[in-house]
Amino acid sequence: MATKTQATPLFLLLSLLLILLKTTVAHRGGIAIYWGQNVSEGNLTALCDTGRFAYVNIAFLDVFGNGQTPLINLDGHCNPATNGCTIFSEQIRHCQKKHIKVMLSLGGLVGNYFLTSKADAKNVSRYLWNNLLSGKSSNRPLGDAVLDGIDFYIEQGSSLYWDDLARYLHHFSRKKFYNNPCQSNTTSLLNSWAIWVKSVKARLFFVGLVALPLPPGPNAGTDVTPSGFIPANVLESQVLPVVKSSKKYGGVMLWNAFWDVQDGYSTTILSSVV
Ligand SMILES: *[C@@H]1O[C@H](CO)[C@@H](O)[C@H](O)[C@H]1NC(C)=O
Ligand SMILES: *[C@@H]1O[C@H](CO)[C@@H](O)[C@H](O)[C@H]1NC(C)=O
Ligand SMILES: *[C@@H]1O[C@H](CO)[C@@H](O)[C@H](O)[C@H]1NC(C)=O
Ligand SMILES: *[C@@H]1O[C@H](CO)[C@@H](O)[C@H](O)[C@H]1NC(C)=O
Repeated sequence: MATKTQATPLFLLLSLLLILLKTTVAHRGGIAIYWGQNVSEGNLTALCDTGRFAYVNIAFLDVFGNGQTPLINLDGHCNPATNGCTIFSEQIRHCQKKHIKVMLSLGGLVGNYFLTSKADAKNVSRYLWNNLLSGKSSNRPLGDAVLDGIDFYIEQGSSLYWDDLARYLHHFSRKKFYNNPCQSNTTSLLNSWAIWVKSVKARLFFVGLVALPLPPGPNAGTDVTPSGFIPANVLESQVLPVVKSSKKYGGVMLWNAFWDVQDGYSTTILSSVV
Protein backbone atom coordinates (compact mmCIF):
# COMPACT_ATOMS: atom_id res chain seq x y z
CA MET A 1 0.00 0.00 0.00
CA ALA A 2 1.07 3.55 -0.54
CA THR A 3 2.90 5.33 2.23
CA LYS A 4 2.42 9.00 1.60
CA THR A 5 2.54 11.89 3.95
CA GLN A 6 1.60 14.66 1.55
CA ALA A 7 -1.35 14.96 -0.69
CA THR A 8 -0.33 15.51 -4.28
CA PRO A 9 -1.62 14.24 -7.58
CA LEU A 10 1.93 13.25 -8.42
CA PHE A 11 1.48 10.18 -6.34
CA LEU A 12 -1.25 8.86 -8.50
CA LEU A 13 1.02 8.88 -11.47
CA LEU A 14 1.83 5.58 -12.80
CA SER A 15 -0.06 3.31 -10.61
CA LEU A 16 -0.48 -0.33 -11.01
CA LEU A 17 -3.94 -1.18 -10.11
CA LEU A 18 -4.89 -4.64 -9.24
CA ILE A 19 -8.36 -5.83 -9.17
CA LEU A 20 -10.12 -8.86 -7.98
CA LEU A 21 -13.67 -9.02 -9.09
CA LYS A 22 -16.42 -11.34 -8.09
CA THR A 23 -17.67 -11.97 -11.55
CA THR A 24 -15.84 -13.29 -14.52
CA VAL A 25 -14.53 -10.56 -16.74
CA ALA A 26 -13.74 -11.03 -20.38
CA HIS A 27 -10.06 -11.27 -21.27
CA ARG A 28 -10.15 -8.05 -23.21
CA GLY A 29 -8.91 -4.95 -21.46
CA GLY A 30 -11.02 -1.95 -20.59
CA ILE A 31 -10.63 1.59 -19.33
CA ALA A 32 -11.36 2.53 -15.73
CA ILE A 33 -12.12 6.20 -15.12
CA TYR A 34 -12.25 8.23 -11.92
CA TRP A 35 -15.33 10.42 -11.63
CA GLY A 36 -16.51 12.80 -8.93
CA GLN A 37 -13.91 15.48 -8.38
CA ASN A 38 -15.09 18.18 -10.76
CA VAL A 39 -18.72 18.94 -11.41
CA SER A 40 -17.81 20.19 -14.90
CA GLU A 41 -17.18 16.61 -15.97
CA GLY A 42 -20.93 15.93 -16.22
CA ASN A 43 -23.02 13.18 -14.70
CA LEU A 44 -22.53 9.43 -14.50
CA THR A 45 -25.20 8.62 -17.04
CA ALA A 46 -23.48 10.72 -19.67
CA LEU A 47 -20.09 9.26 -18.75
CA CYS A 48 -21.32 5.69 -19.09
CA ASP A 49 -23.19 6.49 -22.29
CA THR A 50 -19.90 7.40 -24.01
CA GLY A 51 -19.27 3.66 -24.30
CA ARG A 52 -15.58 4.12 -23.56
CA PHE A 53 -15.42 2.88 -19.98
CA ALA A 54 -15.60 -0.56 -18.45
CA TYR A 55 -15.20 0.66 -14.86
CA VAL A 56 -16.10 3.87 -13.06
CA ASN A 57 -14.46 4.75 -9.74
CA ILE A 58 -16.57 7.22 -7.79
CA ALA A 59 -14.15 9.54 -6.00
CA PHE A 60 -14.00 9.92 -3.02
CA LEU A 61 -15.05 8.73 0.39
CA ASP A 62 -12.47 10.94 2.05
CA VAL A 63 -13.38 11.02 5.74
CA PHE A 64 -13.37 7.71 7.60
CA GLY A 65 -11.37 5.69 10.10
CA ASN A 66 -10.39 6.53 13.67
CA GLY A 67 -14.07 6.29 14.59
CA GLN A 68 -15.01 9.25 12.39
CA THR A 69 -18.41 9.39 10.77
CA PRO A 70 -17.62 8.59 7.12
CA LEU A 71 -18.24 11.35 4.57
CA ILE A 72 -18.38 11.26 0.83
CA ASN A 73 -17.07 14.19 -1.22
CA LEU A 74 -18.12 14.51 -4.85
CA ASP A 75 -17.11 18.13 -5.37
CA GLY A 76 -20.08 20.16 -6.65
CA HIS A 77 -21.95 17.12 -7.95
CA CYS A 78 -24.07 16.89 -4.80
CA ASN A 79 -24.28 17.83 -1.16
CA PRO A 80 -23.82 14.78 1.07
CA ALA A 81 -24.86 16.77 4.16
CA THR A 82 -28.42 16.91 2.85
CA ASN A 83 -28.29 13.36 1.48
CA GLY A 84 -28.03 14.91 -1.98
CA CYS A 85 -25.72 12.27 -3.44
CA THR A 86 -28.47 9.65 -3.36
CA ILE A 87 -29.57 11.11 -6.72
CA PHE A 88 -26.74 9.07 -8.23
CA SER A 89 -28.31 5.73 -7.37
CA GLU A 90 -30.31 5.63 -10.54
CA GLN A 91 -27.30 6.69 -12.62
CA ILE A 92 -25.12 4.00 -11.01
CA ARG A 93 -27.71 1.41 -11.95
CA HIS A 94 -27.84 2.83 -15.45
CA CYS A 95 -24.09 2.23 -15.76
CA GLN A 96 -24.35 -1.26 -14.29
CA LYS A 97 -27.06 -2.17 -16.78
CA LYS A 98 -24.48 -1.40 -19.44
CA HIS A 99 -22.12 -3.90 -17.75
CA ILE A 100 -19.94 -1.14 -16.38
CA LYS A 101 -18.56 -1.91 -12.92
CA VAL A 102 -19.04 1.00 -10.54
CA MET A 103 -16.66 1.24 -7.57
CA LEU A 104 -16.31 3.57 -4.63
CA SER A 105 -12.85 5.07 -4.33
CA LEU A 106 -11.49 5.58 -0.82
CA GLY A 107 -8.99 8.31 -0.05
CA GLY A 108 -7.95 11.14 -2.32
CA LEU A 109 -6.01 14.32 -1.97
CA VAL A 110 -7.95 16.06 0.76
CA GLY A 111 -10.22 14.89 3.56
CA ASN A 112 -9.13 13.02 6.64
CA TYR A 113 -8.70 9.30 6.69
CA PHE A 114 -6.49 6.79 8.40
CA LEU A 115 -6.94 3.53 10.22
CA THR A 116 -5.84 3.19 13.83
CA SER A 117 -6.14 -0.55 14.41
CA LYS A 118 -7.42 -3.79 13.00
CA ALA A 119 -10.64 -3.15 14.88
CA ASP A 120 -10.91 0.24 13.20
CA ALA A 121 -10.33 -1.38 9.81
CA LYS A 122 -13.04 -3.90 10.59
CA ASN A 123 -15.44 -1.15 11.59
CA VAL A 124 -14.77 0.71 8.33
CA SER A 125 -15.23 -2.48 6.34
CA ARG A 126 -18.58 -2.99 8.03
CA TYR A 127 -19.57 0.56 7.14
CA LEU A 128 -18.60 0.04 3.49
CA TRP A 129 -20.44 -3.23 3.30
CA ASN A 130 -23.64 -1.90 4.86
CA ASN A 131 -23.69 1.56 3.35
CA LEU A 132 -22.27 1.11 -0.15
CA LEU A 133 -22.12 -2.58 -1.00
CA SER A 134 -24.71 -5.30 -0.52
CA GLY A 135 -25.45 -4.74 3.17
CA LYS A 136 -28.32 -2.78 4.64
CA SER A 137 -28.41 0.65 6.20
CA SER A 138 -30.92 3.46 6.38
CA ASN A 139 -28.14 5.95 5.69
CA ARG A 140 -26.57 5.07 2.37
CA PRO A 141 -24.74 8.08 0.90
CA LEU A 142 -25.31 6.96 -2.70
CA GLY A 143 -28.76 5.59 -2.04
CA ASP A 144 -29.76 1.99 -2.57
CA ALA A 145 -27.56 1.26 -5.60
CA VAL A 146 -25.14 -1.57 -4.75
CA LEU A 147 -21.60 -0.77 -5.83
CA ASP A 148 -19.40 -3.43 -7.43
CA GLY A 149 -16.29 -2.89 -5.37
CA ILE A 150 -13.92 -0.61 -3.52
CA ASP A 151 -10.91 1.19 -4.93
CA PHE A 152 -8.03 2.26 -2.68
CA TYR A 153 -6.54 5.64 -3.56
CA ILE A 154 -4.58 6.27 -0.39
CA GLU A 155 -2.54 9.44 -0.66
CA GLN A 156 -2.16 10.57 2.90
CA GLY A 157 -1.97 9.50 6.50
CA SER A 158 -0.50 6.28 7.69
CA SER A 159 0.11 3.19 5.60
CA LEU A 160 -1.12 0.93 8.37
CA TYR A 161 -4.07 -1.45 8.37
CA TRP A 162 -5.10 -1.01 4.72
CA ASP A 163 -4.31 -4.64 4.09
CA ASP A 164 -6.58 -5.51 7.02
CA LEU A 165 -9.34 -3.38 5.55
CA ALA A 166 -8.93 -5.14 2.20
CA ARG A 167 -9.01 -8.51 3.91
CA TYR A 168 -12.17 -7.72 5.89
CA LEU A 169 -13.85 -6.42 2.74
CA HIS A 170 -12.87 -9.52 0.90
CA HIS A 171 -14.29 -11.58 3.71
CA PHE A 172 -17.59 -9.75 3.40
CA SER A 173 -17.90 -9.48 -0.27
CA ARG A 174 -15.16 -11.09 -2.33
CA LYS A 175 -14.94 -7.79 -4.16
CA LYS A 176 -11.96 -5.54 -3.97
CA PHE A 177 -9.72 -3.18 -5.73
CA TYR A 178 -6.31 -1.83 -4.76
CA ASN A 179 -4.31 1.04 -6.03
CA ASN A 180 -0.55 1.18 -5.70
CA PRO A 181 1.32 4.20 -6.96
CA CYS A 182 4.76 3.86 -8.47
CA GLN A 183 5.96 7.08 -9.99
CA SER A 184 8.50 6.50 -12.73
CA ASN A 185 9.26 6.31 -16.42
CA THR A 186 8.15 3.75 -18.96
CA THR A 187 11.03 1.40 -18.18
CA SER A 188 10.43 1.31 -14.48
CA LEU A 189 6.68 1.19 -15.03
CA LEU A 190 7.17 -2.00 -16.96
CA ASN A 191 9.57 -3.35 -14.34
CA SER A 192 7.02 -2.67 -11.62
CA TRP A 193 4.33 -4.25 -13.71
CA ALA A 194 6.37 -7.43 -14.04
CA ILE A 195 7.02 -7.59 -10.29
CA TRP A 196 3.44 -6.87 -9.29
CA VAL A 197 1.86 -9.26 -11.72
CA LYS A 198 4.11 -12.02 -10.44
CA SER A 199 4.02 -11.31 -6.72
CA VAL A 200 0.59 -9.96 -5.92
CA LYS A 201 -2.32 -12.33 -5.73
CA ALA A 202 -5.02 -10.82 -7.89
CA ARG A 203 -6.69 -11.71 -11.08
CA LEU A 204 -6.51 -8.48 -13.03
CA PHE A 205 -4.03 -5.60 -13.13
CA PHE A 206 -4.43 -2.13 -14.60
CA VAL A 207 -1.93 0.48 -15.69
CA GLY A 208 -2.89 3.71 -13.92
CA LEU A 209 -2.24 7.00 -15.70
CA VAL A 210 -3.34 10.58 -15.63
CA ALA A 211 -5.41 11.54 -18.65
CA LEU A 212 -3.83 14.93 -19.25
CA PRO A 213 -0.24 16.20 -18.97
CA LEU A 214 -0.63 18.31 -15.84
CA PRO A 215 1.41 20.19 -15.09
CA PRO A 216 3.04 20.36 -18.49
CA GLY A 217 6.43 19.31 -17.19
CA PRO A 218 9.81 19.39 -18.88
CA ASN A 219 9.25 15.93 -20.29
CA ALA A 220 5.75 16.58 -21.59
CA GLY A 221 5.20 14.86 -24.89
CA THR A 222 8.37 12.78 -24.65
CA ASP A 223 8.08 9.84 -22.31
CA VAL A 224 6.42 9.98 -18.91
CA THR A 225 5.95 13.45 -17.51
CA PRO A 226 6.29 14.23 -13.82
CA SER A 227 2.53 14.14 -13.59
CA GLY A 228 2.34 10.54 -14.69
CA PHE A 229 1.00 11.24 -18.14
CA ILE A 230 2.15 9.01 -20.97
CA PRO A 231 1.47 10.27 -24.49
CA ALA A 232 -0.92 7.98 -26.32
CA ASN A 233 1.64 7.00 -28.93
CA VAL A 234 4.16 5.95 -26.25
CA LEU A 235 1.49 4.01 -24.39
CA GLU A 236 0.48 2.26 -27.58
CA SER A 237 3.98 1.50 -28.84
CA GLN A 238 5.91 0.77 -25.64
CA VAL A 239 3.58 -0.07 -22.78
CA LEU A 240 0.49 -1.82 -24.06
CA PRO A 241 2.29 -4.41 -26.19
CA VAL A 242 4.11 -5.61 -23.05
CA VAL A 243 1.29 -5.52 -20.51
CA LYS A 244 -1.27 -6.98 -22.89
CA SER A 245 0.82 -10.10 -23.21
CA SER A 246 -0.07 -10.89 -19.59
CA LYS A 247 -3.11 -13.02 -18.85
CA LYS A 248 -3.69 -10.69 -15.90
CA TYR A 249 -3.99 -7.56 -18.01
CA GLY A 250 -7.16 -5.73 -17.03
CA GLY A 251 -6.74 -2.47 -18.91
CA VAL A 252 -5.86 1.13 -18.20
CA MET A 253 -7.08 3.29 -15.33
CA LEU A 254 -7.36 7.04 -15.88
CA TRP A 255 -7.33 9.98 -13.51
CA ASN A 256 -9.84 11.55 -14.18
CA ALA A 257 -13.08 12.11 -16.12
CA PHE A 258 -12.73 15.89 -16.14
CA TRP A 259 -9.16 15.84 -17.44
CA ASP A 260 -10.01 13.16 -19.95
CA VAL A 261 -12.64 15.38 -21.53
CA GLN A 262 -10.02 18.06 -22.19
CA ASP A 263 -7.84 16.04 -24.54
CA GLY A 264 -9.91 12.99 -25.42
CA TYR A 265 -7.21 10.64 -24.15
CA SER A 266 -9.57 7.71 -23.59
CA THR A 267 -11.02 8.12 -27.07
CA THR A 268 -7.53 8.00 -28.54
CA ILE A 269 -6.36 4.93 -26.66
CA LEU A 270 -9.55 2.88 -26.47
CA SER A 271 -8.99 0.70 -29.50
CA SER A 272 -5.46 -0.15 -28.32
CA VAL A 273 -6.54 -0.91 -24.76
CA VAL A 274 -9.20 -3.49 -25.55
C1 LIG B 1 -12.81 22.01 -12.55
O1 LIG B 1 -13.41 22.51 -13.72
C2 LIG B 1 -13.17 23.87 -13.99
C3 LIG B 1 -13.84 24.20 -15.31
O2 LIG B 1 -15.20 24.12 -15.19
C4 LIG B 1 -11.69 24.14 -14.10
O3 LIG B 1 -11.47 25.52 -14.29
C5 LIG B 1 -10.99 23.66 -12.85
O4 LIG B 1 -9.60 23.82 -12.99
C6 LIG B 1 -11.30 22.22 -12.58
N1 LIG B 1 -10.68 21.83 -11.33
C7 LIG B 1 -9.90 20.76 -11.23
C8 LIG B 1 -9.35 20.49 -9.85
O5 LIG B 1 -9.64 20.03 -12.15
C1 LIG C 1 -26.86 13.92 -17.45
O1 LIG C 1 -26.21 14.84 -18.29
C2 LIG C 1 -26.77 14.90 -19.59
C3 LIG C 1 -25.86 15.76 -20.46
O2 LIG C 1 -25.62 16.97 -19.85
C4 LIG C 1 -28.17 15.44 -19.49
O3 LIG C 1 -28.77 15.52 -20.78
C5 LIG C 1 -28.99 14.50 -18.63
O4 LIG C 1 -30.27 15.03 -18.41
C6 LIG C 1 -28.32 14.29 -17.30
N1 LIG C 1 -29.00 13.19 -16.63
C7 LIG C 1 -29.37 13.25 -15.37
C8 LIG C 1 -30.08 12.06 -14.85
O5 LIG C 1 -29.16 14.23 -14.68
C1 LIG D 1 -17.48 2.67 13.64
O1 LIG D 1 -17.85 3.32 12.46
C2 LIG D 1 -18.94 4.20 12.59
C3 LIG D 1 -19.25 4.70 11.21
O2 LIG D 1 -19.73 3.65 10.46
C4 LIG D 1 -18.61 5.32 13.54
O3 LIG D 1 -19.69 6.17 13.65
C5 LIG D 1 -18.22 4.74 14.85
O4 LIG D 1 -17.79 5.75 15.70
C6 LIG D 1 -17.13 3.70 14.68
N1 LIG D 1 -16.89 3.05 15.95
C7 LIG D 1 -15.68 2.95 16.46
C8 LIG D 1 -15.58 2.22 17.77
O5 LIG D 1 -14.69 3.40 15.92
C1 LIG E 1 13.96 5.15 -16.00
O1 LIG E 1 14.10 4.63 -14.69
C2 LIG E 1 15.13 3.70 -14.59
C3 LIG E 1 15.10 3.10 -13.19
O2 LIG E 1 14.06 3.57 -12.41
C4 LIG E 1 16.46 4.38 -14.87
O3 LIG E 1 17.53 3.44 -14.78
C5 LIG E 1 16.42 4.97 -16.27
O4 LIG E 1 17.59 5.69 -16.52
C6 LIG E 1 15.22 5.88 -16.43
N1 LIG E 1 15.12 6.27 -17.84
C7 LIG E 1 14.82 7.52 -18.20
C8 LIG E 1 14.72 7.76 -19.67
O5 LIG E 1 14.66 8.42 -17.39
